[in-house]
Amino acid sequence: MTTVLLGVSGGIAAYKAAEIVRALQKRDYDVRVVMTSNAAQFVSPLTFAALSHHEALVDEFDCPGDPIPHITLGQGCDLFLIAPATANVVAKLAAGIADDLLTSTALACTAPVMVAPAMNVHMYEKAAVQENLATLRRRGITVLDAASGYQACGDTGPGRLPEPEQIAAVVEEHFHRQDALPSWTGKKVVITAGPTVEPIDAVRFVSNYSSGKMGYALAAEAARRGADVALVSGPVTLKAPEGVQLVPVKTAREMLAACEEAFVAADVFIASAAVADFRPESPSDSKIKKGSSQEGQLSYVRLVENPDILAAMGAKKRPGQRVVGFAAETDNVVGYGQQKLASKHADMIVANQVGENKGFGADDNQAFLITENNVEELPLMAKQQLASVILDRIEQF
Ligand code: C5P
Repeated sequence: MTTVLLGVSGGIAAYKAAEIVRALQKRDYDVRVVMTSNAAQFVSPLTFAALSHHEALVDEFDCPGDPIPHITLGQGCDLFLIAPATANVVAKLAAGIADDLLTSTALACTAPVMVAPAMNVHMYEKAAVQENLATLRRRGITVLDAASGYQACGDTGPGRLPEPEQIAAVVEEHFHRQDALPSWTGKKVVITAGPTVEPIDAVRFVSNYSSGKMGYALAAEAARRGADVALVSGPVTLKAPEGVQLVPVKTAREMLAACEEAFVAADVFIASAAVADFRPESPSDSKIKKGSSQEGQLSYVRLVENPDILAAMGAKKRPGQRVVGFAAETDNVVGYGQQKLASKHADMIVANQVGENKGFGADDNQAFLITENNVEELPLMAKQQLASVILDRIEQF
């Protein structure tokens, strides 16, 4: 049974959350409720317990038998719907604050999150609130527009919680869309991610700032769609997504060897790694001495070009195999992306601008999807969301 976790925060609209429980149950969802202590001032947890047939949880230190309720709740649901979401809860979600059970659960949640803000019109229209809502949207959280009309405080305008039936319909639509996602079951996907590190000597290396976030988001999304995913990754601090086969590598040549092996059976190859373009020609087993006047000293380190993994896979692409690359550029993003599409025999290049806090390490990305006959400019979005769009487009090739 599909489980919707309903997060209720402390505004007057909390009373409507009881109706949301009913509207969701009518659509055959199992509903569980987590509330803030302020919400419990408006509606008793007992009301939600009676309606949902599960204890409604408020206090993370008062969950008998479960020492980590935020993890249990956050990972045990198919959707976390926070309705109503007060300005305070919206701000905490945007800032990553987790100081009660509801907000800790939101942070620990592995399911999609949906937020229905409800507050006084003047609060709703404040720049702080609108910017926080925009932050949530950018990160891939679905934010429902507040309804407009007469408010409990006597003001009129936007800020009202949409009707419970409308909210339940949005939830239903969300699950229908998910069911309609094309299945990648049986498809083999190979993804490169992260940087490569190229040793100079026993203690030093050449590398770059790649965090691996984009490649890991692609791997997670492909696995979610049922694909058999091999993630060939340079050293990063991220945990491999569930169900993904991690192939850890360090250097470009190790990455190439792993890709050559995996590419044979691959249906889709996505090169999102930031491969070091050059490596020291003969790394020393011992630490090279500082100083710059003689060979064997640090300033004499000679660099040679690394293999281009994407180009190598593109060159041996069989009919039916799809090859996608990335292009991080500081200028002429589309032009260079188009050149790479041709020179590396890729089916699509995801091109984006780097520099000035863009690209490497960020959670968001603004990209152009370049194919032979088209250039699609995407808005700034969370890397998870971009991963989903990229896979949607590959599906259409
Ligand atoms: O040529 P450039 O490095 O800009 O191309 C970027 C694309 O090529 C990315 O998809 C990257 O993963 C891939 N690449 C590669 N091997 C290299 C250099 C880049 O696979 N040595």
